Order: sequence, then structure tokens, then C-alpha cells
Amino acid sequence: MDKIRIRGGKPLDGTIEIGGAKNAALPLMVCGLLTDEPLTLTNIPSTLMDIRTLGELLTQHGSEVVVKGEGAGRAMTITTKNITSTTAPYDLVRKMRASILVLGPLVAREHEARVSLPGGCAIGSRPVDLHLDGLAALGAEIELTDGYVVARAPGGLKGAEVVFPKVSVGATEHLMMAAALAKGTTTLINAAREPEVVDLAVCLNAMGAEITGAGTDRIVIVGKDRLHGATHEVVPDRIEIGTYMMAVGIAGGRVFLPRARIDLLKAAVKSMREAGIAFTERDGGVEVTAPKGGLKGVDVVTEPFPGFPTDLQAQFMAMMTVCNGASMVTETIFENRFMHVPELGRMGANITVHGSSALVRGVPRLTGAPVMATDLRASVSLVLAGLAAQGETIVNRVYHLDRGYERLEAKLSACGADIERLKESMAAE
Ligand code: EPZ
Repeated sequence: MDKIRIRGGKPLDGTIEIGGAKNAALPLMVCGLLTDEPLTLTNIPSTLMDIRTLGELLTQHGSEVVVKGEGAGRAMTITTKNITSTTAPYDLVRKMRASILVLGPLVAREHEARVSLPGGCAIGSRPVDLHLDGLAALGAEIELTDGYVVARAPGGLKGAEVVFPKVSVGATEHLMMAAALAKGTTTLINAAREPEVVDLAVCLNAMGAEITGAGTDRIVIVGKDRLHGATHEVVPDRIEIGTYMMAVGIAGGRVFLPRARIDLLKAAVKSMREAGIAFTERDGGVEVTAPKGGLKGVDVVTEPFPGFPTDLQAQFMAMMTVCNGASMVTETIFENRFMHVPELGRMGANITVHGSSALVRGVPRLTGAPVMATDLRASVSLVLAGLAAQGETIVNRVYHLDRGYERLEAKLSACGADIERLKESMAAE
């Protein structure tokens, strides 16, 4: 398995290109099942493992998935003239949990589907009860057998009012897509408000859907008999933007992020500003500058959008390990999202966990060490810590990183970081 080696202590200086949002691209790809016409997605981070895995899954359902072009000009076209299989097998679903999103569109279009239940993952049990209850509300008959969800709607799905007992990004996206082809109108109450939900509604409406209220907690979908093809540009990745902003915060320096948009992560930018990081919006992007004399300790609590995003919690905590003062980091979305804490501790961080809160007491500096990644965002928080640590940090199991960050080490080394990927053979030495 590849490793990443970082020799810390170098400030960042340069430009980092931001890609399309992984967590928008995944549901957007599933929209390709909702029409027999081509759906083209531009600005798609198509080299990410999660995107490739979902492409494999769509292909075995009967989609033709073609990626053309390079960099920002890259486009993925998904054409599903016919659904050739309504089964999503375990060996693909277990690799990428968001695969569960194909269930509703398959039932909407083919009136039946058999999708493996996604397992849990490192950050929590990740149940899908809100997805299944929502589809049942739209008239699907749901059965759980042999680890698979079997769903049927012989006469098709019917519009309904769905009240989510808790905010769920995936369940909101799932029901929006299923309801787009249901008979009648669906209202989602207590819906997720994330920018990726809004981006999905924009794409569905471009395909002929009739969705209003995306971005609020009440979304109305007027079902249509069919949807047509479209071309849609994937929204920039707000978590990638926030990750590189925090890389500047911990390593020091100044970086320009073209096409970055502060409105996608206002709560996180507010906390970073309080810590002393400066932001200048210019030339269609954002310039980020770290404070002289280090960061100030700031408390954060993760919440559904527009609150502080859980996907930036580990990165913010890494940044706070070397702050002047202390920071209380509270995780309210997932039950087990502090796996980066013991690894940061091995680098000299002073962090005490009490339930869902972690008290981070700033230390003068971290020291490099071999550390282990356990999930996508925990792994990138260790890279950030390595940028500031004295000496050499080796981050193991970087396949987690490859699920969510394109060319991470190339982007950081282009800004002066001493960071290198050690290929399997090199890593073994
Ligand atoms: C999406 O996951 C993101 N993934 C996650 O990003 C992100 O952390 C999460 O939203 C929260 O913002 C994608 O978009 C592919 P949820 P999702 O449903 O949709 C519970 C990353 O690092 N829940 O909003 O699965 C759930 O256990 C990933 O890029 C139920 O109880 O998240 C969690 O505690 C990690 N029942 C809470 O709700 C359900 O049916 C929020 O989950 C569904 C969720």
C-alpha cells in the first residue's frame, strides 16, 4: 500500500486548483439512471476511487459511462438506454456506501430493485433507515433478505409527504431523485440544505424535473413521466476548499484558490477567521493567508449545513493542535469520528476526549511520526499535521486519501511543501 512522506516546517506559497465536489458528483451520476438520454457532467473529479467505483456499478446496471478531456475540461457522459440489471451487488456496494442511492431511481424507472445493504464504516454504523422509510412512503414495498434490500413498486412510485426525523444528506438526495419520476407531488420536510443537495436539484431541473425549495428544509418535487438528458457542471468541492485553507492555517504562508467560493462554507470560514486566518476574495477565487505568530484557539461544533461541516472537523482539530490556547471540538453528526485523535497524539498533540467533545490544548510544535489513516478526512488531517511537524511524518493507508482528494501531494508540493508519495515497492524499503 502506498504511503505519503512529509518533512514538515515549510510554509505554503502558490496556487491550488479546486476540483468538482465528490459528494455532489456521486448523486449526480446516479441521475443517469433516471433517463434514457445522455447526461453529461463537467468539472467531475473522475480519477477519485469513489467515482470510479460508482461508474462500475452504473455500468453493470446498463449505463454507458464515458470520460473525455483533462483537468477542468474533463466531462463524464452517462447514457442508460436500457436498465439491464436491477441488482446492485455486495462486492461493489461495500466499496462505496453512496451506492445505496441507485435503489430509488431503479424502482422509479423499473418498478423493482435489489440493492445490497451498505455496511457501516469507520466513522459510524451509517444506517439507511431514513432512505428506506422515505421510499416506503412513496409506495415502495421494502423487504430485507440476505443482506439485500428488495424494493418493488408495481404501479410505480406515488408522491407523498416525507418528514425526516433527523437531517440526512443522502436520504434527502435519494428521495429527490425517486420523487422526480413519481406520480404526483412529494414534499420533503426537515430536508438537508447542503450545497450538494442544491446542485442535485439544479441538475434534475435541467433534466426536466420540477423541484423547488432545495437549500431550505422543505423541498417540493412535482413528479414527471420521464426526464431528458442534460449537461451540468459539478459544484466546487467545499470540503477540498476548506481542507486547503486549513493547510495554510497550520503550515503558514499564502495560497490562492481559483474558483473557490466562501459562500459554500461560511461557518468554517467564520471559525478560521476567528483563529486569525485572513481571506481575500479576488480574481474569481479566494486568497488565504495564515497569521503571523500562530493561530488562536477556537471552539467548533459540527452541525448540518449551514453549520460547521463534520467533514472538516478532523482538519480543524489538526490545525488547533498548535494553536495559542485551546479549542473544544464537538462532533454531533457521527458517533465515532475521532479516530485521528490517537494518531495526532503520537505526533505530540495534547487532546482529551470526553464523549463527543475533544479538548485540544495547543502545543508549541508537533513532531513527525509514522501514523495510520482510518477514514478519508482523518487521513488528510494527518497530512496537515505533517506539514507543521518537525521532522518526518509517514502517513500509511493512503488509499483512504485517494477516495476523496485528487493529486493531493502534487498540489501541496507545488506550493513548497516537502511531500512525496512512496509507491508500494519504495514504501516497503
Ligand atoms: C454525506 O453522507 C456525505 N457523503 C458525508 O461525507 C458527510 O459526512 C455526511 O453527508 C454529513 O454531511 C456523501 O455525500 C457521499 P447523512 P450521508 O445521511 O448522506 C444518520 C466524506 O467524508 N443517518 O447526512 O451518509 C447517519 O448515521 C463523507 O466525504 C441515519 O441514522 O450522511 C449520521 O449520523 C463522510 N439513518 C447522520 O444521520 C439514515 O438513513 C447524518 O448522515 C441516514 C443517515
